[in-house]
Amino acid sequence: MGQPDRAGRGWRGWTVLLWVAAVTLVLAEGRRVRQPRCPAGCTCTKDNALCENVRSVPHTFPPDVVSLSFVKSGFNEITGGSFVHTPALQLLLFTANSFDLIDEDAFLGLPHLEYLFIENNKIASISPYAFRGLKALIHLSLAYNNLETLPKDVFKGMDALTKVDLRGNNLICDCKLKWLVEWMHHTNATLDQIYCSGPPIHQGKKINDLLPHSFDCITAEFASYQSLKFESISVEAFTFGKDQYVVFAQPFAGTCSFLEWDHVEMTFRTYDTIESTSTVVCKPMVIDNLLFVIVAQLFGGSHIYKRDTSANKFIKIQDIDILKIRKPNDIETFMTDGESFFVIADSSKAGSTTVYKWNGNGFYSHQSLHPWYRDTDVEYLEISNKPHLILSSSSQRPVVYQWNRSQKQFERRTDIPEMEDVFSVKHFRVKGELFICLTRFIGDSKVMRWDGAMFKEVQTFPSRGSMVFQPVSIGNWQYAILGSDYSLTQVYQWDTKRGQFVSSQELNIQAPRAFSLVSIDDREFLLASSFKGKTQIYEHLMIDLSN
Ligand SMILES: *[C@@H]1O[C@H](CO)[C@@H](O)[C@H](O)[C@H]1NC(C)=O
Ligand SMILES: *[C@@H]1O[C@H](CO)[C@@H](O)[C@H](O)[C@H]1NC(C)=O
Repeated sequence: MGQPDRAGRGWRGWTVLLWVAAVTLVLAEGRRVRQPRCPAGCTCTKDNALCENVRSVPHTFPPDVVSLSFVKSGFNEITGGSFVHTPALQLLLFTANSFDLIDEDAFLGLPHLEYLFIENNKIASISPYAFRGLKALIHLSLAYNNLETLPKDVFKGMDALTKVDLRGNNLICDCKLKWLVEWMHHTNATLDQIYCSGPPIHQGKKINDLLPHSFDCITAEFASYQSLKFESISVEAFTFGKDQYVVFAQPFAGTCSFLEWDHVEMTFRTYDTIESTSTVVCKPMVIDNLLFVIVAQLFGGSHIYKRDTSANKFIKIQDIDILKIRKPNDIETFMTDGESFFVIADSSKAGSTTVYKWNGNGFYSHQSLHPWYRDTDVEYLEISNKPHLILSSSSQRPVVYQWNRSQKQFERRTDIPEMEDVFSVKHFRVKGELFICLTRFIGDSKVMRWDGAMFKEVQTFPSRGSMVFQPVSIGNWQYAILGSDYSLTQVYQWDTKRGQFVSSQELNIQAPRAFSLVSIDDREFLLASSFKGKTQIYEHLMIDLSN
C-alpha cells in the first residue's frame, strides 16, 4: 500500500475511494478467480490490475483491463510505449515507486485514459513529449515527486484536462517555467495551490499568483559575426543617401577603409579607400547631402576629402593648418545654431584643439581652445540643452566648455573634479539623465552623472590598459564597453533598478581602440576596431530564456 499518509495528501478524496475500491476488488476477486493472463507480481480482475514490486511494466494484462496500478515497483523510468498492450485503460496509477524519469511517448496508445496519477515517486525529469496522445485525459497528478521544472508545452494537446496536481514538488519559478504561468492563465483546467521553491525573488510565492510579466526573461548578447583581416584605430558608422557605411582608420596600411553592407551576402564588403599615411581618425560628415571625410594623420598633416558622386571617388579638397593640428587624436562633428562644425583634439604641446566651421564652400578655423595642453579626446554634448565640449588631456582634469550663443564661441565653464589622467570622455543618457564614461588607462575608469550643477561619481570600473570606455545604446538596452590591452574587454549593461552597470559579457578583442554601432535591416551590429589584431564585428542578439 506504499505510504498511505504521504500518498493521502496528494489525492482527492474520491480518488482514494476509487483506488481503494479497485484494490479491494483486485485483491478479493484475484484470489478467487485467477485471470489467465495476469502477469507475475500483479493481481488482476476482469478490468483491474495491481502490480507490486515488479521490475518492468508487464505486457500481458487481461485485454479488458481499464485500471492499472503500480506500487513499489523496481523500474527506474517509464519508457516510451510501455502501455501499448493495454489500450482500453481509463485509469493508471503509480505510487511509491522509485522511478525518476518519464520518457517520450510513455503513454502512447491510450486514447481512453482519463485519470493518470503519478504520485509519491521520485520523478525529477519528464520528456516534453511524455504525455503525447493523451487526448481524453481529465485528471493528471504529478504530486509529491522531485520536480523542479516542467518542460515547455508538456500539456500541449491535452484539451480535456480539468485538473492538474503538482503539489509536493520543488518547482523553481524561473523563466523555464514562465510557460506554465501563461498556460495557467488561459487553460480551463484548475491547478492546486503550489508554492515556488525558488528563485530567491519568487521563493515562497504561490505560483498561481504569478503573472507572465512577473518574469524578466529577455536577455541580449553580442555574438561574433564577422572578422576583418586588418588592424584599425577608429571606426565610424554613417548613412549617406539611403545607404549604411562604416569607415575604419587603418594606421599601418595608412588608409581609410570604407565598407558597405551587402544585403544579399549579409556581410560588410569593401566600398572604397582613401590612401593616407599614419591614419588615426577617418571622420565622415554629411552636410547638405554632401559627404566629407576628415582624415587625421600623425605625419604629413590632416586633410579633408569630399565624395564625388558622379566620378564615384573621394577627392581631396582641403588641408588642415599644420601649425594648429600637429598630433591629432580625436575628431567630433556637431551642429549648433544651424551651422555645421567639427573639432579636432590635438595632443601635441605646440598644437591646439581647434573648432572648424563649414561656410558653404569649405571649412574654416573658428576657435582654438586649450593651448599648451595635450588633449587626447574631445566630446560634444548638450548639458541642459546647451552645447558643450569636454576636453580630456594627459596630466590634467577634463575641462568643460560651454557655447556662448551671442559670442558664438566656447567658453571654459568648469572642470571635472578629482579626475586626473582621463584619456577620453563619452556621454550617454538614461531616461533623460546625462551620464559620462571616463576612460583611464590604468586605475579606475568611471561613470558619472550630471546632477544639474556638476558631474558626480556613480560607479568605478577597474581599468587594465584601457583606451576606450564606450557607451552603446540599443533600444532600451544601455551598455558601456570597457576595452583592455591586457585582458578581455568587459561589456556592462545598465540595470535600471539599481541605477548602475552590471557585468554582462566579455569579448576577446586585441587592443580595442573604438566601438561603433550600426543598424541595418533591423539588425544591430557592434564594430570593434583592434589596434593589434583583427577588426571585429558583433551582432546584438535577443535571447528569450523562457524558450
Ligand atoms: C475552455 O472552455 C470553453 C467552453 O467549453 C471552450 O470554448 C474553450 O475552447 C476552452 N479553452 C481551452 C483553452 O481549452
Ligand atoms: C556670453 O558672452 C557675453 C559677452 O561676453 C556675456 O555677457 C554673457 O554672460 C555670456 N553668456 C554666458 C551664458 O556665459
